[in-house]
Amino acid sequence: MTFPFLLCANWKMNKNPEEARSYIRQITDLFPSDELNKIVFFAPAFALSVLSEECRSSSFGWGAQNCHFEDKGAFTGENSPLVLKHMGATHCLVGHSERRQLFFEDDLLVQKKVKALIKNNLQPVICVGEHKEEREKGNSFSVVERQLAGILKQIDFPDSVCIAYEPIWAIGNHQPAQPSQIDDMRKHVQEMCESFGKKLCFLYGGSVNRSNIKELSQIAGIKGFLVGGASLDPHDFFKLYCSLV
Ligand code: PGA
Repeated sequence: MTFPFLLCANWKMNKNPEEARSYIRQITDLFPSDELNKIVFFAPAFALSVLSEECRSSSFGWGAQNCHFEDKGAFTGENSPLVLKHMGATHCLVGHSERRQLFFEDDLLVQKKVKALIKNNLQPVICVGEHKEEREKGNSFSVVERQLAGILKQIDFPDSVCIAYEPIWAIGNHQPAQPSQIDDMRKHVQEMCESFGKKLCFLYGGSVNRSNIKELSQIAGIKGFLVGGASLDPHDFFKLYCSLV
């Protein structure tokens, strides 16, 4: 049976180019080569050219953790989606909660980035999710609806819309959301996508590790995972994959 999930690694602001190269070489030795196209690495900017070189002899997916919505110009410090494509990237993260919270990215900005990625034939992995207080007030659905409405309404996707539900309260705290909470959100996002005539690829992220991934993988309709901390060591990441096969 082929691996039925998309496994995305978000390295965040970790790994220099040498560490990235060593990691990727270990991964390509560990993983079955015909499964590597289901694995996507989101690297920090300085390591992207290493992934670009290493992917020539391997089939893993890769991309940046953020990009600008313009292809080029006077945007100091930004990543160009056009250059990412030129380097051979396949994906790009957009709207990660750390970008929204720490760098004040709003829904409209995220929408413009998604549009730019589609224009450049890159697959955006669109992160959505609510704060703890928003969940406690019963507003999880409305927050995610607000985050996705413009994107689903304004943008034509050539294929499915890849949405990573990452409740902010579950990120980096060793305790993922409950399967029932993820399932409820998956159904809600599915309905939203259907109402706009879009196909959904639903991922979950937030404290996914090798002890909980099997249980999470049993949630109906889940297509994959976005993994932060548990993706940083190649052997740990491989064990996480092994718990699924
Ligand atoms: P985590 O991070 O797996 O360390 O919780 C996930 C993410 O922020 O994408």
